[in-house]
Amino acid sequence: MMMTAVQDLTIGFIGLGKMNGAILQGLLNAKIKSDKLWGVASSSEDAQKKTDEFGIRVYGPKEYAKELSKTEFIFLGVKPHKVADALAAFKQQLALEPLKKGLTLVSIAAGVQLETLQKTLEIPLPMVRVMPNLGVAVGHGVSTLTSNALVDKEHEKVLITLLKKLGCCEVLPENLFDAATGLVGSGPAYVLLIIEALIDAAVHSGIPRAMAKQMVPQLLIGTSLLLEQSGLHPAQLRDNVVTPAGTTAEGLSVLEAAGVRSAIDEAVQAAIARAKVLG
Ligand SMILES: NC(=O)c1ccc[n+]([C@@H]2O[C@H](COP(=O)([O-])OP(=O)(O)OC[C@H]3O[C@@H](n4cnc5c(N)ncnc54)[C@H](OP(=O)(O)O)[C@@H]3O)[C@@H](O)[C@H]2O)c1
Repeated sequence: MMMTAVQDLTIGFIGLGKMNGAILQGLLNAKIKSDKLWGVASSSEDAQKKTDEFGIRVYGPKEYAKELSKTEFIFLGVKPHKVADALAAFKQQLALEPLKKGLTLVSIAAGVQLETLQKTLEIPLPMVRVMPNLGVAVGHGVSTLTSNALVDKEHEKVLITLLKKLGCCEVLPENLFDAATGLVGSGPAYVLLIIEALIDAAVHSGIPRAMAKQMVPQLLIGTSLLLEQSGLHPAQLRDNVVTPAGTTAEGLSVLEAAGVRSAIDEAVQAAIARAKVLG
């Protein structure tokens, strides 16, 4: 079977909030044509607002059946507690029109398992769970992916190619999805806290805030690129910049004494525990 090129895909978005909006923005930046993308808002009034915001056609929650005969993937991006309502509306829409062969539901809802989605929808459908993060809006997101047994492997490959246009994408067994939620989904917030703390430390040392706001993100970007391109372990790369009895050694010893390493691990484990409760 010929693989569909990602530019030829038609993709729907149920819910156009922060995360689905970020995926949509990433696809538009990756030159996916806006006429291949459509969305569903929580009300017809909101649909008009979202059309103006994103420049794609957006429907009310029960008005999108006509798109289903040409759509390959639909991203479900509503809050976990609203998934059942969105799926009830989706089920009604599915009954109205013939579906494109292989039409796949891609849920990004944290903690909602494939089995739960299937039971709620009550119709056997190819389904994929993806845990993305907000970096997808700028082509540097992290996404993990797992599929149910009805997903054709070629179709899965097409979705992975699509998600790789937005950053990296790793296939992960579903039992590690709570871990992915705690690391990948919540990750940008941890990094932003560290960025904020470094900016405040810079200001504390006398550097103007506007300047610190430029310098600190670049510090993270440069370090990440260096790590990626060198292929080194972070500790090896760090050793290269730590002069014996130097300034960096002094700073690092304070971070270690403050337990930063274990605090980060505890934060990720707490987020994972919370994801399990919400699911
Ligand atoms: N934000 C993240 O960083 C992130 C990361 C990974 C995964 N996720 C997952 O992504 C999902 C969405 O999160 P979010 O942060 O993007 O939430 P959000 O900003 O609240 O977006 C959800 C959107 O869906 C709309 N909506 C609700 N019910 C709907 C329906 N039946 N049909 C169509 N649209 C409907 C909401 O409209 P109203 O506001 O009018 O209800 C809202 O605009 C969640 O399940 C979350 O677990 C989020």
